[in-house]
Amino acid sequence: MASSSSSFLRTTLTFSLLLLLLVGSSSANLSTKFYSKSCPKLEPTVKSVVQSAISKEKRIGASVLRLFFHDCFVNGCDGSILLDDTSSFTGEKNAAPNRNSARGFNVIDDIKTAVEKVCPGVVSCADILATASRDSVVILGGPCWNVKLGRRDSTTASQAAANNSIPPPTSSLSNLISKFKAVGLSTEDMVTLSGAHTIGQARCTNFRARIYNETNIDSSFAKRKQGSCPRPSGSGDNNLAPLDLQTPTSFDNDYFNNLIKKKGLLHSDQQLFNGGSTDSIVRKYSNNPSTFNSHFIKAMIKMGDISPLTGSSGQIRKNCRKVN
Ligand code: HEM
Ligand SMILES: *[C@@H]1O[C@H](CO)[C@@H](O)[C@H](O)[C@H]1NC(C)=O
Ligand SMILES: *[C@@H]1O[C@H](CO)[C@@H](O)[C@H](O)[C@H]1NC(C)=O
Ligand SMILES: *[C@@H]1O[C@H](CO)[C@@H](O)[C@H](O)[C@H]1NC(C)=O
Repeated sequence: MASSSSSFLRTTLTFSLLLLLLVGSSSANLSTKFYSKSCPKLEPTVKSVVQSAISKEKRIGASVLRLFFHDCFVNGCDGSILLDDTSSFTGEKNAAPNRNSARGFNVIDDIKTAVEKVCPGVVSCADILATASRDSVVILGGPCWNVKLGRRDSTTASQAAANNSIPPPTSSLSNLISKFKAVGLSTEDMVTLSGAHTIGQARCTNFRARIYNETNIDSSFAKRKQGSCPRPSGSGDNNLAPLDLQTPTSFDNDYFNNLIKKKGLLHSDQQLFNGGSTDSIVRKYSNNPSTFNSHFIKAMIKMGDISPLTGSSGQIRKNCRKVN
């Protein structure tokens, strides 16, 4: 009797585990063909708007890619970052990592308008952001991949989660590792995805302490950056510097070459090459751009799989800035 009840328990446990695994893997229940019948013109429609935005301002591709990261890290890739604050609703746009910093929302609006024209009410803002991020990487010279789709849009956002889940540039290596681990991304994924800092800009307020106070920095690089980022806090806070000093509008592996020369702009960047466990990954990507590209694709797909809303959860927003 005892043995039969324990075998029943074992079977039940095994079954629950299996169910858990199945439910767990539903987080990746996205498909590259999700809109192939319902919106066959989706991809060229998105691409042409991204292309024209980037031809007006090259940096905007970087800004869009960052929006996707900041969306996915906060309760999953659900378009939550796109919701505007109102008198009765506090969203993520004014969270610490986004305030005076996150940009590219108009491009997402323009894409949404164009997509609504060809297939009204079908495509989520979360999927538009995922697709536009891939297109930005490709247009700036990076690798191409098929984007998994089928995400739906949130009806909520969380400023507290945005404050807590997105790592700040003051992070230590172990904090970076743990923030990525919290969303199912490995240490290597963290280093790979940080390679996105091969494009785009950062504000003086985010690298001041590094260029005045750190030792693991090339001294002539630090001096040069000090020229446009005054020491007193509050002065020149929004002055910009490129995250990749070589080629800030080309998606390449120079970010990793810079780290090896102690020319990472952010404290968090240089943490990846500071005598610790990730030095070897940085060296690998510096020596081998095609390995970086293929790992970047895998890591972007993995990041895009973070807790999507699927099936009948969430909604397809009509306007990315507000809940229907
Ligand atoms: C590893 C942890 C990360 C930290 C601490 C971090 C931090 C930052 C900071 C502080 C900025 C500058 C913001 C400003 O000064 O206004 C920035 C910019 C940027 N980040 Fe990250 N980031 C991280 C990872 C990522 C990831 C995973 C991606 C995308 C896959 C990404 C993409 C970008 C891009 C493209 C920009 C430039 C945006 C623009 O020019 O508008 N970052 N990041
Ligand atoms: C998020 O951080 C910002 C800026 O530090 C702060 O003003 C805001 O109160 C924080 N929000 C929450 C919900 O913790
Ligand atoms: C540099 O460090 C000193 C001593 O800790 C501190 O007083 C100062 O505010 C820091 N400067 C910057 C620009 O972070
Ligand atoms: C997974 O996708 C299939 C096909 O689109 C859908 O029928 C199913 O409801 C989805 N499952 C979950 C858990 O969202």
